[in-house]
Amino acid sequence: MAVRCDAVIMSRSEAPTPQGTAVTGNLHDRLLDRLLAGLPAEAVLTDPDVTASYANDMASFCEAGAPAVVVLPRTVEQVQHVMRTATELRVPVVPQGARTGLSGGANAADDCIVLSLTKMDRILEINPVDRIAVVEPGVVNATLSRAVNEHGLYYPPDPSSWEMCTIGGNIGTASGGLCCVKYGVTAEYVLGLDVVLADGRLMSTGRRTAKGVAGYDLTRLFVGSEGSLGIVVRAVLALKPQPPQQLVLAAEFPSASAACDAVCRIMEGGHVPSLLELMDRTTVKAVNDLAQMGLPETTEALLLAAFDTPDPAADLAAVGALCEAAGATQVVPADDAAESELLLQARRLSLTALEAVKGTTMIDDVCVPRSRLAELFAGMEGIAEKHDLTIGVVAHAGDGNTHPTVCFDAADPDESRRARESFDEIMALGLELGGTITGEHGVGILKKEWLAREIGPVGLEMQRAVKAVFDPLGILNPGKLF
Ligand code: LAC
Ligand code: ZN
Repeated sequence: MAVRCDAVIMSRSEAPTPQGTAVTGNLHDRLLDRLLAGLPAEAVLTDPDVTASYANDMASFCEAGAPAVVVLPRTVEQVQHVMRTATELRVPVVPQGARTGLSGGANAADDCIVLSLTKMDRILEINPVDRIAVVEPGVVNATLSRAVNEHGLYYPPDPSSWEMCTIGGNIGTASGGLCCVKYGVTAEYVLGLDVVLADGRLMSTGRRTAKGVAGYDLTRLFVGSEGSLGIVVRAVLALKPQPPQQLVLAAEFPSASAACDAVCRIMEGGHVPSLLELMDRTTVKAVNDLAQMGLPETTEALLLAAFDTPDPAADLAAVGALCEAAGATQVVPADDAAESELLLQARRLSLTALEAVKGTTMIDDVCVPRSRLAELFAGMEGIAEKHDLTIGVVAHAGDGNTHPTVCFDAADPDESRRARESFDEIMALGLELGGTITGEHGVGILKKEWLAREIGPVGLEMQRAVKAVFDPLGILNPGKLF
């Protein structure tokens, strides 16, 4: 069951809003006629049962409207046709990838055109000399990763949903993943973009060169813009040489705060792990319950560290010693790549596993300076206790990026209310500690009230002004971000 977000309703004077009226009767027919003038019939879906299945991303507790139509273009020209039509008829457009997002950023607005980019899924080029790939937005992250591996190259950003999520969606939300502690987030890999603007014009940003400082960095502006500024139809992505296979170590701690201390020691010691993840006791148990992974349930916090260096065993030994100095009760390096992969699988299963605890979860994404991580963990424990809730925490600990996951029964109104309250208190705590409300999942619908709190009134005004330049009619993904 869906829990409605407390959406902030903006007045028209605050931001551009779609100026169209509901797509009903005549307008609906005109919309379909116009779309079909530039799209094949099979690319225009109108069956309400089918269009309803495109209504939301994985943040199913956020409000979602009923799309008027879903379009699945295969070419840039078709996307341009869709946007010209939307502008002409003043119909909102919600761009979508694989809908694995966690903030409602891809949720449909009532009577909108859902613009699914999943059929634009070609890898256009992999260039080992320039170390770039050129892709369409619907390419699945794992497909790209495997394709570039065949050329001895590496595309690092690896969200947990990497087997499903698309590069376009990754760009829209500026996705992170498990490797960010060493390799950074999606923004660091997007060099250039082709973007269809709200009125259908095609704009190229950025470069395919190693360097380039010509003008404002509009490429970066689009990364994380959640489909609110234009439709990405092609991306030039930077690649790295493929590193050696990483080796993982698992360290058990008697408390989350000891594990956070280990994280600080590792980073302070100048180590560069390719992964530094933390799973708390609740998460470990949930993963074992779901997949019988045999993780140690007696531990309060399980820290996974990995190195993809030429001598990972030596690096793991050094980090293992730091874990012990911080109070680890057990330090177990994986024997080989297969064992390492199993540990990563367990980590990637965390959120699915936590969902099984009570049926519904609210996944927070608070990121703090890693030196404040222990305070965040202590605060979250207090919040869970205060609201009498189960909150499992899985974290990209090396980045200070936590996913406190509130497990609740959506059929219980009181528990749902407490879940939302605790979710908000965690964000407030994150801001207090000098952090951000979202390290990698984006604002979407879920956190738009919080975006305003984080960036303040002047920041918000400037963001709205930027939006108005690219989308003067307010037809692009309305109701998201702010
Ligand atoms: C993860 C997603 C939720 O880290 O960001 O698993
Ligand atoms: Zn994450």
